[in-house]
Amino acid sequence: MAILVKASGLTKKYGDLVAVAGIDFEIREGECFGFLGPNGAGKTTTVRMIHCVSPVTSGILTVGGMPSGINNRGLKMITGVIPQEINLDNDLTVAENLVVFARFFDIGRREAKARIAELLRFVELEAKAGSKISDLSTGMKRRLLIARALINRPRLIVADEPTTGLDPQARHLIWQRLRQLKTQGTTLVLTTQYMEEAQQLCDRIVVMYQGRILKEGTPASLVEGEIGREVVEIRVPPEDDAKILGHLAGFDCAHERVGDTLYFYCREGHGLMKKLLELDLPNTLNRPATLEDVFLKLTGRSLHE
Ligand SMILES: Nc1ncnc2c1ncn2[C@@H]1O[C@H](COP(=O)(O)OP(=O)(O)O)[C@@H](O)[C@H]1O
Ligand SMILES: [Mg+2]
Repeated sequence: MAILVKASGLTKKYGDLVAVAGIDFEIREGECFGFLGPNGAGKTTTVRMIHCVSPVTSGILTVGGMPSGINNRGLKMITGVIPQEINLDNDLTVAENLVVFARFFDIGRREAKARIAELLRFVELEAKAGSKISDLSTGMKRRLLIARALINRPRLIVADEPTTGLDPQARHLIWQRLRQLKTQGTTLVLTTQYMEEAQQLCDRIVVMYQGRILKEGTPASLVEGEIGREVVEIRVPPEDDAKILGHLAGFDCAHERVGDTLYFYCREGHGLMKKLLELDLPNTLNRPATLEDVFLKLTGRSLHE
């Protein structure tokens, strides 16, 4: 598959602060590529360089073979942006917000009208075309941002935390639409703090932390490689650890104590669960390993505030 976005030694500094610290990645045409990381990891900074609104400090970044740069109108023409902040124009209606963008891309009036009708249908906002932005729910505003990002029929869509703050219904609708775009051949670059979102949408992800890429791979390969297939959680006080670990000696599972929980990371948890039955513990859970386990292992379990 052809490479659409290529970064090598990509760096962004704000004064002394290194927001992106010399990262390398390649995004293939037609895939969904995810930047996963906590607040402040450098996700937004990275994608802002990809869609040419933030200049690169050093390193190389190309999109479609062209060097990224803030004056690169050619790149802006093939890119659609769903920003992290909801930056709709509150003085305009839903449809008018799209008209403004159609003008920026030099789309003729009649063509713009047709595209706007089609896009409002796509994001299920056709009944809201004449509404003020203040009358929309957060989910509707986020859907309108998607419609706006599509007005120029982009080859590349950059979605920066597209579902932050949404309830499950609203989030699932956005996932449906993003997957639909991918099916139609659009390349998607997604940033998210939600592991489930990355698992639902992304073909490949990088885990970012403090401006660096810690790991790269498919969600499944990262889970399997870093954690294993299954996790057993036992909610017991730390005083019980010695007894439990002694009882489970011989099982080839890594373990970790975090707060009130003792975790075991295993290829499969069934045998361990069976052995645990002999101890008659109240709160034990055997579940599939997830990207969240990978994320917490790589970035630590402390708060990032
Ligand atoms: N315009 C800016 N000026 C100064 N510092 C910034 C600016 N934008 C982002 N930063 C800093 O760069 C780092 C990465 O931020 P950001 O890319 O927004 O992370 P993320 O999107 O992963 O939460 C943070 O420490 C943030 O405070
Ligand atoms: Mg961000």
